[in-house]
Amino acid sequence: MNFAVIINITYIIAAILFALGLKMMSSPVSARKGNMLSAVGMLIAISATLATKGLTYQWILTGVIVGSVAGILAAYLVAMTSMPGMVGLLNGSGGLASLLVGWAVYHFHPHSDTFTTITIFLSILIGGVTFTGSVVAWAKLEEVIISGKPVLFKGQQIVNFVILLAIFSCGIIYAMDPAANYPVFIATVVLSLILGVLSVIPIGGADMPVVICLLNSYSGMAACTTGFVIQNNILIVAGSLVGASGIILTQIMCKAMNRSLANVLFSGFGSVIQKEGKGIQGEIKPITAEDAYLILEAANSVVFVPGYGMAVAQAQHVVRELGELLEKNGTEVKYAIHPVAGRMPGHMNVLLAEANVPYDQLVEMDNINPTMDTVDVAVIIGANDVVNPAARHDKSSPIYGMPIIDADKAKTVFVLKRSMNPGFAGIQNELFYYENTRMLFGDAKQSIQGLVAEFKSS
Ligand code: TAP
Repeated sequence: MNFAVIINITYIIAAILFALGLKMMSSPVSARKGNMLSAVGMLIAISATLATKGLTYQWILTGVIVGSVAGILAAYLVAMTSMPGMVGLLNGSGGLASLLVGWAVYHFHPHSDTFTTITIFLSILIGGVTFTGSVVAWAKLEEVIISGKPVLFKGQQIVNFVILLAIFSCGIIYAMDPAANYPVFIATVVLSLILGVLSVIPIGGADMPVVICLLNSYSGMAACTTGFVIQNNILIVAGSLVGASGIILTQIMCKAMNRSLANVLFSGFGSVIQKEGKGIQGEIKPITAEDAYLILEAANSVVFVPGYGMAVAQAQHVVRELGELLEKNGTEVKYAIHPVAGRMPGHMNVLLAEANVPYDQLVEMDNINPTMDTVDVAVIIGANDVVNPAARHDKSSPIYGMPIIDADKAKTVFVLKRSMNPGFAGIQNELFYYENTRMLFGDAKQSIQGLVAEFKSS
């Protein structure tokens, strides 16, 4: 068997591990093992690639050391709530790598065949857009240099379209005679980088997680085209898997928010913020931890509904503690999981898994909703939009049609948040004014700690 065949067989094994790993990541029970399996696949793929003759190992080793140090530091230092931003930067690195590899191949082999020339062009275009788009997405999420709000100007989409047209025109000129058209190639690089910035600035900071999934998909496509440039099969396979899974995730997120991808990309969602509950009937009824405890203590069933605020407060561990105290008291405890609660897919699952909440207590929205009217107390922990009943009936609401957790149907609803400020969608929540709702104001972690203290002192 010759060397190339052995390498390709190794790549097939790595590709199978990638696919199995991805499949296992679809359930919290097997996600860790899936992650490990994919990592082993990547190790095999990288080892096989490094076995290729003629590589300059000192540079590769330098890259491995720099990358590993950056990765380890980021894994320890980046807060869970900043994870979408970090994923954004990683996507951007993937895009930049594709751009640079495409550029290097063009620089050293300007007389490539037409197929390679076209794939270089695609690597530059998709890689460039992914790079600057991801950096802008990260900056918006972290509010570094630019505001998280949508940046809109007249004729924005026309400008983007004209730039895209210019990129393809440059692409055609460059492909006709690559060796003679270095300046046109450079123009393609620059225009792609500009397009990345301009296509992400009109998107609201809070829509960034969706955009980051989309850019993740782009980074996969860029890697895939680069795989064709350097004729590396595993890069083509891995890029395709990332491209496909990124776009599927983007679709899932849009569906769970009941919005189209076009609406996310072009509507400037989140630029208007409602501070007051206009037209909402009823009054706010605050409650103290002592009174909330008395109701919880007498409850037969409690459903926790976690949201973004639980992530901000890092309240997951103390929530699990309260859940255990309730169970000891004979109460049935469940956690209702909305697919877009928080700011990234699986956000609540990850936090609750980190706090060792048993998986069988996590119930998906579609399964918990039919039982909500039998629940004694729904405890909403820093969730807002995902429990807003306006999504069911108010056609004028920006979240109309978004499936929600029917927390309002529980006999009593506790809402744990710091103020009357709205959540991601920038709208007030009529649930807070309902007859059966009580507001436990304060940081979610402190409020839950207060309830735990009541249970322990009783
Ligand atoms: P949100 O509607 O964003 O509401 C979060 C609430 O948490 C806020 O009202 C805030 O109120 C409260 N909060 C913040 N910090 C807190 C703290 N330390 N203690 C207690 N409360 C705190 O969250 P949600 O219900 O989870 O909904 C998620 C939203 O994000 C949806 O609109 C969804 O479409 C969107 N989105 C989600 C994703 C994914 S994939 N998850 C991606 C893109 C967009 P106070 O400031 O008054 O405390």
